[in-house]
Amino acid sequence: MKTRITELFGIEHPIIQGGMHYVGFAELASAVSNAGGLGIITGLTQKTPQDLAKEIARCKEMTDKPFGVNLTFLPTVTAPDYPGYIDAILDGGVRIVETAGRNPQEHLPRLQEAGVKIIHKCTSVRHSLKAQKIGCDAVSVDGFECGGHPGEDDIPNMILLPRAAEELTIPFVSSGGMADARSLVASLAMGAEGMNMGTRFIATKEAPVHDNVKKAIVAASELDTRLVMRPLRNTERVLNNAAVERLLEKEQRLGKELQFQDILEEVAGVYPRIMLEGDMDAGAWSCGMVAGLIHDIPTCKELVDRIMNEAETLISQRLTGLLSAS
Ligand SMILES: Cc1cc2nc3c(=O)[nH]c(=O)nc-3n(C[C@H](O)[C@H](O)[C@H](O)COP(=O)(O)O)c2cc1C
Repeated sequence: MKTRITELFGIEHPIIQGGMHYVGFAELASAVSNAGGLGIITGLTQKTPQDLAKEIARCKEMTDKPFGVNLTFLPTVTAPDYPGYIDAILDGGVRIVETAGRNPQEHLPRLQEAGVKIIHKCTSVRHSLKAQKIGCDAVSVDGFECGGHPGEDDIPNMILLPRAAEELTIPFVSSGGMADARSLVASLAMGAEGMNMGTRFIATKEAPVHDNVKKAIVAASELDTRLVMRPLRNTERVLNNAAVERLLEKEQRLGKELQFQDILEEVAGVYPRIMLEGDMDAGAWSCGMVAGLIHDIPTCKELVDRIMNEAETLISQRLTGLLSAS
């Protein structure tokens, strides 16, 4: 399939694996890229720019296809060494960066002068327009369904994607709630040029996370996620567990008094324990409603091939068939 996104990134299929903390290591990124999609290493999961340089080198040993690096600009007091991470990206010859979080504008010139293509992840039309204005090449439009940070507007993709199509001139992919060929075809119908998946790619053979995480996603239904940290305006969609229930109880009890310090136990530094050790109640971890559509743990290639084959059938038989029936 050829879209503006496959052309922009030089990939075979319009399917992107979004950056994911403690999931987006070289194993997953290379597997997605080898399957013809765009794999993405999560920059900040690497503790230092030197570690990111090593991860990029590892990924290059596992694939000769294009892959990207995610740079998440967090609302933190002491900012990570972003210029150092950008050095690692440029020195490693990475040509694609997925930015997310705050406005990436101050970091764009160095990346773009080196020819790096930027896809910025946004949860609203106004942020997408801003990304377009500051020179991003594409956007990932992340609806309310998404695992991770859906923003504070709560607009699901059925509205957000066609709204983005009404306003944007740069290409965009759908993100949030995407799992299969139906997601891809629906996204294309709503104006997107491909789709970005997070949660779906965690439940794959190559995702280098503990089996308990994959099993939890397969076992979960669309009813099992919760929104946490809304009172802090840092909303995150996570899979429900004992820690999340404790966190929500604190939010309810403390109301407007809630401070980040009150929920440190449930959110700070929990990812390695969950993703690497499989301690599923260690804290709150991002997961999309799309868990309800995930029933197996295929390889990335099986998943991507299945999506593309079924998308073709869906378009050429079901949809075209509906037309000819009339
Ligand atoms: C476990 C997990 C960790 C994530 N970590 C990040 C991150 O560090 N930076 C980022 O930009 N997005 C992150 N995301 C969001 C994904 O890149 C993607 O936008 C999102 O998962 C899409 O929604 P979906 O899960 O419904 O496919 C994360 C998502 C998950 C599920």
